[in-house]
Amino acid sequence: MLSYENLSTEELKAKKEELMKKYNELKLLNLDLNMARGKPSKEQLDLSLGMIENFDVKDLTKTKDNKDPRNYLNLDETVEAREFFADLLDVKKEMVFIGGNSSLNLMYTYISNAMQFGIMGNTPWNKLEKVKFLCPCPGYDRHFAICELFNIEMINIKINKDGPDVQKIKELVEKDNLIKGLWCVPKYSNPTGITYSDEIVKALASLKPAAKDFRIFWDNAYFIHDLNEKKDELLNIFDECEKNNNMNMVLEFASTSKITFPGSGVSALITSEENIKDIKKIVSKQIICYNSVNQIMHYKFLSSKEKVEEHMKKHAKIIKPKFDLVLKTFEEKLKPLKIANWTNPNGGYFISFNSLDGCAKRIFNLCENVGVILTSPGATFPYQKDPDDKNIRIAPTYPNIDELKTALEVFCLCVKIASIEKFLN
Ligand SMILES: Cc1ncc(COP(=O)(O)O)c(C=O)c1O
Repeated sequence: MLSYENLSTEELKAKKEELMKKYNELKLLNLDLNMARGKPSKEQLDLSLGMIENFDVKDLTKTKDNKDPRNYLNLDETVEAREFFADLLDVKKEMVFIGGNSSLNLMYTYISNAMQFGIMGNTPWNKLEKVKFLCPCPGYDRHFAICELFNIEMINIKINKDGPDVQKIKELVEKDNLIKGLWCVPKYSNPTGITYSDEIVKALASLKPAAKDFRIFWDNAYFIHDLNEKKDELLNIFDECEKNNNMNMVLEFASTSKITFPGSGVSALITSEENIKDIKKIVSKQIICYNSVNQIMHYKFLSSKEKVEEHMKKHAKIIKPKFDLVLKTFEEKLKPLKIANWTNPNGGYFISFNSLDGCAKRIFNLCENVGVILTSPGATFPYQKDPDDKNIRIAPTYPNIDELKTALEVFCLCVKIASIEKFLN
């Protein structure tokens, strides 16, 4: 297979005609396939049915310290849930605040409360002339959507193989006190799949921000979501913060969304005790307690880091062949043509695909017209603006293998068509 850059105009035109013929045939199949969102498949959800099927209702009458979880508890009172997350994330239980069914909701709540009430006595953000967040990108679209909603100015930060451009972050954060936040997905990042190196974690933990109420949103959504035996290791940022007397700067978020049931799991916010006190002051006005019944059910089902790791191996067994299929297909169908590159992650939920500059929107539209839905182009960047129009987030977990095969056939065909059009123009 010759790379497209080596083909003559006539050869490219002939190739396009051949590809369009195939494309029109695919159109007739009325496909309805979705590779847009990182959702677990039905098979993965079935792995956690035991949480309900094998649950002994007697366990619902008493927590470890003799509270009745069926009743109102105080906010964050289920001690086993806090111990469980402390074990998972290797922190003290005093640093764990247990939330509801969504870590994203905890992030939103924190920002919303910072806007309206301020953090630890600092000026509420909505009383400032402007608030800015640093956004390593490509990144998680819903982080950027929260900023957009609150009119927080987003600044793009380049993300490299070992993490975000920390030199740039340092330069900006240490001189501008309107920069109040930095989004990070430090392990198996969404969508690049990278894990931050020790050097990057250390550099972030030692930042000396100009704003006292600057916070790193350490969204550790994929902290235990390995695909392979050989796992990525992420340094514990709090150990580094402690050395730098910077414990209030980091808010770590995690949840069981992609361990058990997304939308029906348990979330946690891990941070300094001082931050937790500040958070509780306001959240205790919003809610009496989160869902303690669900916390107990999760605890009884998962109970320890070892059991969660065992459980996650079952997830990996289901989704690894899907990642392998995507990578094999790209290697075979696209690599020789030199029209794209992509990541090969060790965990998480995504493969980050880069087409030739200026082709992502066209690829999306071509796929959509044949019934294959991808994550919207630009979604992985602030304001949905990919400066190079080249990044597409591939989410292979939800479709079954046959659907994925078909979706990939369509996708590769559309990448080829869009690339030829670029060369012809
Ligand atoms: C990076 C990241 N953070 C947070 C979430 C959402 O987590 P939760 O279900 O706990 O709100 C996701 C879901 O895709 C994600 O990819």
